Amino acid sequence: MEFFLGSDHGGFPLKEKIKKWLEGKGHKAKDLGCFSEERCDYPDYAEKAAKAVAKKKGAIGLLFCGTGIGMCIAANKVKGIRAALVYSEVTGRMAKEHNNANILCLGGRTTSFAEAKKAVGAFLKAEFQKGRHLRRLRKIALLER
Ligand code: RB5
Repeated sequence: MEFFLGSDHGGFPLKEKIKKWLEGKGHKAKDLGCFSEERCDYPDYAEKAAKAVAKKKGAIGLLFCGTGIGMCIAANKVKGIRAALVYSEVTGRMAKEHNNANILCLGGRTTSFAEAKKAVGAFLKAEFQKGRHLRRLRKIALLER
C-alpha cells in the first residue's frame, strides 16, 4: 500500500514515528514534509498530500498537525478527498467501514503514538461496508460539483 505523509511542526514528531512504523511493516511512505519542528503552515502540506492522494487510485494520506483538525479542514477542500480525524481504534475502523476515508488526520499534540498506531492499524485492517454508506458518499461527492 502506498502512503503520502504530511505534517506541520505540531505534527512532525508523530509523523516521524508513524513513518518508521509503516516502513517497518513494509509499506512505501512518501514524506511530503515538513522536515523539522520549525514553525510552518499546515495548509501547504495538506495541499501537497491531498493532491497526491487524489491523483493516485488506492493511495492513502496521513496528515499530522497539532490537533489534526486544521489538516482535516484543508485536505477536505481537495476534490475526491475524504479526510477523517482519527484518534483511537474505533475512529480508525469507522473511517474505513463507513466513510471509506482516503486520508487520516492525526493530532501530534493530542494523540499518543500508541493510540495513533491503533487508529491507523484498525483503518488498514477494516473494509468499506458499501450499501447505505456508498449512497451517502455519493451525496458527499455531489457537494463537490
Ligand atoms: C499550529 O500551532 C496548530 O494550530 C496546528 O498544528 C493545528 O493544530 C491546526 O489545526
